[in-house]
Amino acid sequence: MKRVLVTGGAGFIGSAVVRQFIEETNITVINLDKLTYAGNLNSLPELIGHPRHIFEQVDICNASEVARIFSEHHPDAVMHLAAESHVDRSIDGPADFIQTNIVGTYTLLEAARSYWNGLDVESKSAFRFHHISTDEVYGSLGEHGLFTEDMAYEPNSPYSASKASSDHLVRAWHHTYGMPVVTTNCSNNYGPYQFPEKLIPLVILNALEGKPLPIYGTGAQIRDWLFVDDHARALRLVLEKGKIDETYNIGGHNEKTNLEVVHVLCDLLDELVPESAYIPHKSLITYVQDRPGHDMRYAIDASKVQHALGWTPDETFETGMRKTVQWYLKNNEWCQHVLDGSYQGQRLGTDL
Ligand SMILES: NC(=O)c1ccc[n+]([C@@H]2O[C@H](COP(=O)([O-])OP(=O)(O)OC[C@H]3O[C@@H](n4cnc5c(N)ncnc54)[C@H](O)[C@@H]3O)[C@@H](O)[C@H]2O)c1
Repeated sequence: MKRVLVTGGAGFIGSAVVRQFIEETNITVINLDKLTYAGNLNSLPELIGHPRHIFEQVDICNASEVARIFSEHHPDAVMHLAAESHVDRSIDGPADFIQTNIVGTYTLLEAARSYWNGLDVESKSAFRFHHISTDEVYGSLGEHGLFTEDMAYEPNSPYSASKASSDHLVRAWHHTYGMPVVTTNCSNNYGPYQFPEKLIPLVILNALEGKPLPIYGTGAQIRDWLFVDDHARALRLVLEKGKIDETYNIGGHNEKTNLEVVHVLCDLLDELVPESAYIPHKSLITYVQDRPGHDMRYAIDASKVQHALGWTPDETFETGMRKTVQWYLKNNEWCQHVLDGSYQGQRLGTDL
C-alpha cells in the first residue's frame, strides 16, 4: 500500500492517524477535510508542506470534487473518518449530521466505487474502504455485558443514528457491488488535539480558568476510554490485515463513570499545576441538567481485534490521562486558536 486517502484527517482522530502514517511508514497520505469548526490544520503543523502529506480542502458531500480526488491521487485505500462527531450538537442541529455522516458517506462510497471499478484486477482486490465508526451505534448497555460485533444496532441520538446509517451503507456497498470494505466501531477516545467541546479537554481548560466543571445529571454514565494513538494504531492494523466485510470493535477496557474521569483530571491538575488558585479543582464541579436521551453505559468487547490481529493498547487510563493533561498544559496556543471561532465552551445539546 503506497497511497491512502484519509477523510477527516484534520480532526482529532484523523490527525493522529495521519501523523502515524507520516512518522512510522513510507505511505503518502491524501488528507481530505472540509475544515469545519472541528478541523484544524494547526493539528498537523509539522506536516504542512511535507512531501508525503497532500492536503485537499474538500467537502465529502461534493461529488465532483471527491471524484477529482480519486482520479488525481489514485489511492490504494480509503480511511473514512470525516464526520460531524459531537452528540450535543446533533441534538441542537441534526441536519449537518444527516448531510455529512449519511449523504457524505454515500457520496464518498459512490466515488470510491466508480474509481474502484476502473482499477486493474490486482489493484481492485487489494483496494480497501475502511469505515471508522462508533460503539454508540449499539445503544446503551445495562449494568452488565459488553458490545460485541454481532449485536443489533440500537442508536439513540441523532449522531449515533447517522453513524449507524453510514455503517449500513458501507455494508451494502460490499454486498451489492462487491466493494472491499471493513468497518471499525470504537469507544470514546481521548488525547491531544481533541476539540474542547468534548468532556476531557473541556474540563481541563475550564479548570485552568477556574470555571465550573459541568457534570451532566449525576455523572454516573459509564464510557470505555481509549487513548487516541492506540486507536490510530488499531485502525492502521485493521486496514492492513482486517478481513473484508468484517467489523472490529476497538476499546481499551477502561470503563469509568464521567464523574470518575473528572475526579482523575482534577487530581492530575492539582499535582501538575501546584501554583493554581483553584486547588482543589474538584471544588469547581457543578452538576447540570442531563443530556436528553443520555445513554447510560458503553463498554467494548475488543477480543476480536486482539485475537485476530494482535492489537492491544499501549497506554493505560492513568498513563494516557497524564499525557493528555500534560499536552493541554503545554499547548495553550492550539486551544486558544481552535476556540477563536464560534464555540467558546458554552453548554450545547439542551435545545429540545
Ligand atoms: N471521538 C471519539 O471518541 C470517536 C469514537 C469512535 C468513533 N469516532 C469516529 O471517528 C471519526 C473521527 O472522529 P473525531 O473525534 O476525530 O471527530 P472530529 O470532529 O474531531 O473531526 C472530524 C473531522 O471531519 C471533518 N469534516 C466534517 N465534516 C466534513 C465534510 N462534510 N467533508 C469533509 N470533512 C469533514 C472536520 O473538519 C474534522 O476535521 C468520526 O467518524 C467519529 O464518528 C469518534
